[in-house]
Amino acid sequence: MSFPKGFLIGASTAAHQVEGNNTNSDYWAQEQMPHSSFTEPSGIACDHYNRYEEDIRMMADAGLNAYRFSIEWARVEPEEGHFNEREIEHYRSVIRCCRDNGIEPVVTLMHFTSPAWLIRRGGWESEETIELFRRYAAYVTEKLGSEIRYICTINEANMGLQLAAIARRFTLMAQQAQQNAKNAEGTVQVGMNFQKMMENMKYAAMENMEVFGTAQPQIFVSSRTSAGDALVFRAHQAAKAAIKSTRPEIRVGITLSLHDLQALPGGEAAAAAAWEEEFRHYLPFIQGDDFLGVQNYTRTQYGPEGQLPCPPGAELTQMDYEFYPEALEHVIRRVHEDFTGDLIVTENGIATADDTRRVEFIRRALAGIENCISDGIPVKGYCHWSLMDNFEWQKGFSMTFGLIAVDRTTQKRTPKHSLHVLGTYAAR
Ligand code: BGC
Repeated sequence: MSFPKGFLIGASTAAHQVEGNNTNSDYWAQEQMPHSSFTEPSGIACDHYNRYEEDIRMMADAGLNAYRFSIEWARVEPEEGHFNEREIEHYRSVIRCCRDNGIEPVVTLMHFTSPAWLIRRGGWESEETIELFRRYAAYVTEKLGSEIRYICTINEANMGLQLAAIARRFTLMAQQAQQNAKNAEGTVQVGMNFQKMMENMKYAAMENMEVFGTAQPQIFVSSRTSAGDALVFRAHQAAKAAIKSTRPEIRVGITLSLHDLQALPGGEAAAAAAWEEEFRHYLPFIQGDDFLGVQNYTRTQYGPEGQLPCPPGAELTQMDYEFYPEALEHVIRRVHEDFTGDLIVTENGIATADDTRRVEFIRRALAGIENCISDGIPVKGYCHWSLMDNFEWQKGFSMTFGLIAVDRTTQKRTPKHSLHVLGTYAAR
């Protein structure tokens, strides 16, 4: 089976997770702290900053026609108000390399990492961040806008509230039992070491104070207040307006981390409340966007007592998520009930050492998209997470989400069978 001409079939990455040496970012600073919650630092990651040509060629050779990657704010504006033209030229080369290989670039402006200076100024709970993000988006558009057709302003803009909820649940469960605590961690769609964070809290506070001038830095992936939650979406709107004012033809959207929330008998109210918090309350901020980026990895079930652990005997991925590729179709249908614009799956994937499971996951996820399209739902693309095995945030390099394996010592790339399988879905 292949999708219609024009349907994007691609892979996703994020700058910090693959490029290496993102030294002016908040994450880099946190990774170096003596009581860091990171399993290991990102270092040179996959050295994609220098090897992007090889990586893009591999994607093209397998037949993929889209590449979602992010431009790193901490590189483009390493110091407040000082923009680095050389980095813009780097990203221009990446975009042109995509085009030369018949690949459509889908560009994200903000994928979790921020310049360290932004966090010293209050980060993602500070009103000023709206204007600072707008200015960065305007700069990138002015320099590179003529070469870009799709922009995702902010990746998983709803992550902060999910972290707030999980932190509350984690504290509760950790009091009950270690085993349960691990279960709580396995429900957030990003690599986090909550246990380690709790143990290190006191020392981390001192170290953060030194680097960011506050014991509780508001990085993008921090528990968010409801004012901070709205602020992130207002930053999206400001950036979108800036992009559109220079380049109205660019298609602009935001991406959201969305679970397939399922209610078992008695769990209906809890599941509905969770969906309201995870998705529906954002509608006023995103209706009218050119597309919505849907990011899904698994399902979550609710019973009368609230969120349930994975069903007994369920197949779990390296991240401790339930293997459940049907979640994607369910989420797309659910989102389409309220958001009737175009949808692009900007992330969907599985951390596993067994590539045959990834192939199965891709086949079932894409069958779900085909069902949605036959029912008239405007799904315009699918970008798999991730192009290559990379730096899974606090969990380091232990999680293998990639369609391409990367040898950590030599940086040698080896395409997995799943890369080839994904390529067969693209129209020729
Ligand atoms: C993020 C990625 C992350 C992936 C897997 C998403 O939350 O956008 O950066 O690596 O999920 O956890």
